[in-house]
Amino acid sequence: MDGSRVAAAALLTALVLGAASGDRGAVNADNLLVITAATEQTEGYERFLRTARYFNYTIQTLGLGEEWRGGDVARTVGGGQKVRWLKEEMAKYASRDDFVIMFVDSYDVLLAGGPVELLRKFVAFGSQVVFSAESFCWPEWSLAESYPPVSTGKRFLNSGGFIGFAPAIHRIVQLWKYKDDDDDQLFYTRIYLDPGLREKFGLALDHKSKIFQNLNGAIDEVVLKFERNRARVRNVAYDTLPVVIHGNGPTKLQLNYLGNYVPNAWTYETGCGGCDQGLLDLSGTPEEELPHVLVGVFIEQPTPFLPQFLQRLLDWEYPYSRLHLFIHNHEVFHEPHIQEAWEQLRGAFASVKVVGPEEELSQGEARDMAMDNCRQDPECGYYLSLDADVALTNPGTLRALIRQNRKIIAPMVSRPGKLWSNFWGALSPEGYYARAEDYVELVQGKRVGVWNVPYISQAYLVRGKTLRSELHDRSVFTLEDTDPDMAFCKNVRERGIFLHITNLEDFGRLLSTAGYNTSRLHPDFWQITENPLDWQEKYIHENYSRVLDGDVVEQPCPDVYWFPIFTEAACDELVGEVEHYGIWSGGRHEDARLAGGYENVPTDDIHMSQVGLERTWLRFLGEYIAPVTEKLYPGYYTKAQALLNFVVRYRPERQSALRPHHDSSTFTINIALNSKGKDYEGGGCRFLRYNCSVEAPRKGWTLMHPGRLTHFHEGLPTTRGTRYIMVSFVDP
Ligand SMILES: *[C@@H]1O[C@H](CO)[C@@H](O)[C@H](O)[C@H]1NC(C)=O
Ligand SMILES: *[C@@H]1O[C@H](CO)[C@@H](O)[C@H](O)[C@H]1NC(C)=O
Ligand SMILES: *[C@@H]1O[C@H](CO)[C@@H](O)[C@H](O)[C@H]1NC(C)=O
Ligand SMILES: *[C@@H]1O[C@H](CO)[C@@H](O)[C@H](O)[C@H]1NC(C)=O
Repeated sequence: MDGSRVAAAALLTALVLGAASGDRGAVNADNLLVITAATEQTEGYERFLRTARYFNYTIQTLGLGEEWRGGDVARTVGGGQKVRWLKEEMAKYASRDDFVIMFVDSYDVLLAGGPVELLRKFVAFGSQVVFSAESFCWPEWSLAESYPPVSTGKRFLNSGGFIGFAPAIHRIVQLWKYKDDDDDQLFYTRIYLDPGLREKFGLALDHKSKIFQNLNGAIDEVVLKFERNRARVRNVAYDTLPVVIHGNGPTKLQLNYLGNYVPNAWTYETGCGGCDQGLLDLSGTPEEELPHVLVGVFIEQPTPFLPQFLQRLLDWEYPYSRLHLFIHNHEVFHEPHIQEAWEQLRGAFASVKVVGPEEELSQGEARDMAMDNCRQDPECGYYLSLDADVALTNPGTLRALIRQNRKIIAPMVSRPGKLWSNFWGALSPEGYYARAEDYVELVQGKRVGVWNVPYISQAYLVRGKTLRSELHDRSVFTLEDTDPDMAFCKNVRERGIFLHITNLEDFGRLLSTAGYNTSRLHPDFWQITENPLDWQEKYIHENYSRVLDGDVVEQPCPDVYWFPIFTEAACDELVGEVEHYGIWSGGRHEDARLAGGYENVPTDDIHMSQVGLERTWLRFLGEYIAPVTEKLYPGYYTKAQALLNFVVRYRPERQSALRPHHDSSTFTINIALNSKGKDYEGGGCRFLRYNCSVEAPRKGWTLMHPGRLTHFHEGLPTTRGTRYIMVSFVDP
């Protein structure tokens, strides 16, 4: 045995105390020190420390607060500064034969197993120093042929992680006499490739990722494995459970993904990922001490339901004396909406600034400008960016985001029932969307927590301090040939800042802006399919849900039901649309003929098909009328088909009434679109067979009655003003 082997044997005994007596747990972890290098306490560094703390490692960090002179290692060679620091540090441990040192990078490293396991695995190598291995020969690929061949496993040295007895590491780093931006990996590689030095220092490579998993070139070998209370990375190529996970080279995002789980961020047992990491509790903070927040609102395209969006801005659970508003509106179409809300917004927010379409700012310029307003104001605690297609229905969103205490965090929002959301879980090689393995679980809320992801958009909170430090450059959203959101995320990622998204609460939803036709007078009315929830919120009467519970429905005449269905807005916009179209049929009712010629009834009407609302209307009947029908006429199931859907206009001087008739329908709905007393006098509906009338129609309420045969009825005369009703003959 040579000297190093003797030492190794002695240490094995020292470390694995009591192995012979069957006490298998007794590796002495006090003799282990993990050394890392970091000049800044980035979020990657904090994450590394968190994993180390979880396993009770003793960590020493070299270089904190110092200037990095080791070059841009992400792009080129360098890193020598780390070796210089280690050389200085190792002097302390030069003769500590019983001491094991592990050196690892920190920004892109996670620890996945504990000290005892690590030491056991190290000792099992029977070497003095073990380096991590990878499948790329870097930085000098010409050295590849100098490497000893391996039958299975990774062949080439990576210096992002190594472990060894202190004296051996000491002697190795003594050989460093190069510049700070010379390459550390090349240094260690040269030593390893020298057969004499390899032998002398007792060097080995961890070919099969027993300890070190470098992700570069090995993504496909790595899977997550959930244990009882933590998650592990398993290398399925070698069937190993590595202790150190290193997102080297272009694998930072994969490491971020694993970091959402390893060691115990989200597991089936914890049920919540990163939920309680350094929360900021504002609950006891007096209002006047809460941070100032600048809210940047972006209306970059014609967006449905914008008035509702603007109203929601007024509902937040946060003192408005601490809230400032910046609106960029790119659309002339939306100027009246902002105008309408202007007084309310100005009355609420501490300050309001609007940049309109006449400024002709690009989206990127506008986003840069808004963000810079927060950056330049030392008082600005946070910047919340919010696009107009986000319905942030949770008034506590801002507080919830601040509470998570991250540099950048987005509330997760998605299109209801769809997988479309405001984040990406992974990137394609070209930097676009790729489906992450857990994407569906996150969007559907089956896994909740705070997640580190490569791309967020539409709504996110950025810490003011971060804007004034790491993100100090004004131009964040403007990159040549890149969408503003992608430019933002790319800039942030390149500065080592994490993009988080939280789905801990329901924050709201995303709207679809597809096919929004601003040539219409009231384009929102066409949105029943694209944005069904927003449509319902705006147009369906607030008490409609109680109709389905059997409440609220009245029965003024036998088998004639009467219930609320439309909001004021629905009534007004429908009347607005038909009047905007303006070509009233007058005279005979052509559709009565179509429907089988039961009646030839003269009306003044405009059909849904004429104003392009036929499909919207049929969808409305199916979604909102059919369920009521089935409830009120048990045993009757309707397909809610209707050939005749029209607005009727009654005026004393034109058509004022409708003589008695049967409807050529199975049942008829008849919605009052304006208000008796206010808009007209007279009107109503009389069912002759029952000598029963509904003479006080209510705006937004519908009558529903059987059509053919039984419900012979007439429209009572309108004596003043104009009365509008919406009629559908269903299942004709
Ligand atoms: C770390 O140390 C604490 C306190 O001694 C202990 O409760 C905990 O179980 C340890 N963690 C692990 C992963 O061993
Ligand atoms: C948009 O609305 C206008 C005006 O109502 C209409 O003429 C046009 O056909 C609509 N466009 C589409 C794509 O629906
Ligand atoms: C809904 O019902 C409640 C209770 O009956 C009533 O107070 C409220 O005014 C109704 N809403 C509307 C819009 O009519
Ligand atoms: C119909 O009802 C009214 C009162 O509601 C009554 O005056 C009238 O006589 C009734 N007509 C018939 C034919 O029963």
